[in-house]
Amino acid sequence: MNLRNHAPASGTTGSLDLAGIGIGPFNLSLAAQLDSVPTLQAKFFERRPRFDWHPGMMLPDVELQSSFLKDLVTSTNPTSPWSFVAYLVAHKRLFTFLNAQYDAVPRREFARYFEWVAENLDNLHFGADVREISHDGHEFVVSTTGGRYRTGNIALGVGTSPSLPAWAATLPNDVCFHCSDAMERLSDVSTSRIAVIGGGQSGGEIVQYLLSRERLPSSLRWISRRHNFEPINDTPFSNQVFSPEYVDAFRRLSDERKLAAFGSHILTSDGLSLSTINAIYRRLYALRHLEARSPDIELLPNRDVIQVERQHDRFRLIIRNGFDGGIEIVPADILVLATGYKFKLPDAIAPLQDRIVVDRNERLVLADDYSAAWDGPRQNRIFALNAGRYSHGIADSQLSLMAWRSATIINALLGRDHFDLELPQPVVRWSSELQHSNQAVSL
Ligand SMILES: Cc1cc2nc3c(=O)[nH]c(=O)nc-3n(C[C@H](O)[C@H](O)[C@H](O)COP(=O)(O)OP(=O)(O)OC[C@H]3O[C@@H](n4cnc5c(N)ncnc54)[C@H](O)[C@@H]3O)c2cc1C
Ligand SMILES: NC(=O)c1ccc[n+]([C@@H]2O[C@H](COP(=O)([O-])OP(=O)(O)OC[C@H]3O[C@@H](n4cnc5c(N)ncnc54)[C@H](OP(=O)(O)O)[C@@H]3O)[C@@H](O)[C@H]2O)c1
Repeated sequence: MNLRNHAPASGTTGSLDLAGIGIGPFNLSLAAQLDSVPTLQAKFFERRPRFDWHPGMMLPDVELQSSFLKDLVTSTNPTSPWSFVAYLVAHKRLFTFLNAQYDAVPRREFARYFEWVAENLDNLHFGADVREISHDGHEFVVSTTGGRYRTGNIALGVGTSPSLPAWAATLPNDVCFHCSDAMERLSDVSTSRIAVIGGGQSGGEIVQYLLSRERLPSSLRWISRRHNFEPINDTPFSNQVFSPEYVDAFRRLSDERKLAAFGSHILTSDGLSLSTINAIYRRLYALRHLEARSPDIELLPNRDVIQVERQHDRFRLIIRNGFDGGIEIVPADILVLATGYKFKLPDAIAPLQDRIVVDRNERLVLADDYSAAWDGPRQNRIFALNAGRYSHGIADSQLSLMAWRSATIINALLGRDHFDLELPQPVVRWSSELQHSNQAVSL
């Protein structure tokens, strides 16, 4: 099925206006938003054979952490055929979806929505690994396993890479692995002693999954550096950080103030869903008191794993307890590292790496329109998606503002306001300077 009904985009001297590297939700949003702009010629390239959203973490019963209205397009283009509601209607399940009264949409359902959009846009190429991105003095040259393309601009939508503790670098990866491999690796380790390291949502989902299986691990330790197993801060004023008005205010801060603001908002994004916390707590209750099982399970917050030793196929974790200052030893057979993710430039961009500006923390320097500073021609831009947590705020790595960011990039490409991105009057006034003309009037 193909819902497109506009005329084919007219090319510019045979080359593209935009090449998208990677097709996760963020570049998929850009592709879906570009569907309303037939004058721009774009192609997107993904190494996977089809769209697949974090397959290694698609555990049973996992839920979306954001509203389904924060889909690929709706916040700037509510009449797009690529909204989540359009998906429900196309699949004749709008009323059953509404009647299901989900507090949070199953992540599998949102992944199917993404897959449906990906199957129906005709500018996406799957099974196309981007191997090299260079610049010939006039435009970019993108080499993929499916062909070479010339393009005026590129959009890096390659996602983030596992962030691993230094001590994990030399440990065997069949028994010490990042949670992004959980589906594959956890299938046959039920009898082992397992330590899950990381108290964010990924760690919580792994622990919930391990506790839900009939065969429990012979021991389970959940280790978090945070003071406690902290919930996501999902309340109206906190959620203002997921608004374009907040991004606008955040952009004006100095780097030091950005870092401070970022730290104070971390739990709006990286805390545990209440449903995950409740499910874990209630499962522990049931195991202890209703099923009269005595599983060997310990929850260890405020702990930093400072060293890991490997002895006779076993791990020995040396841990500092931040609550009382003690040092503890935890034995384990399997380590699951739910230690987060970080942005990294793809290897394919090596020919341009020295020309791309980074700050003192090795992060890209992004403009308001998400283009990265580099020493090439100004008309050839490198847009970076999911690289701006510290420059555009905590929403950058979440789904919440992806449709808005895509619209911002498209307006920049066109050099005119195809999408109306005028900011609404903020509910909360973050800045001391006046940000908004409406506000000036109301004062
Ligand atoms: C398990 C999990 C659940 C999440 N759930 C939510 C949620 O409910 N709500 C929310 O707001 N946020 C959520 N997030 C945060 C964020 O929305 C997601 O991480 C999202 O997938 C980021 O999209 P992305 O397009 O940047 O990256 P990704 O989804 O990682 O996609 C990047 C794609 O690029 C491809 N690629 C990389 N390099 C190349 C190359 N050289 N050539 C071709 N292809 C390449 C990869 O194969 C991949 O498919 C979640 C994060 C995780 C880890
Ligand atoms: N269903 C869903 O919607 C879903 C599922 C999974 C993830 N997500 C989202 O994806 C993003 C990433 O989540 P995530 O849980 O993978 O990562 P995360 O939120 O960054 O959490 C990683 C955790 O690991 C800890 N950690 C890092 N290094 C450590 C070390 N050496 N020793 C001990 N602890 C260490 C961190 O501690 P510090 O806090 O001290 O740094 C942090 O608590 C989040 O925004 C999350 O909301 C969503």
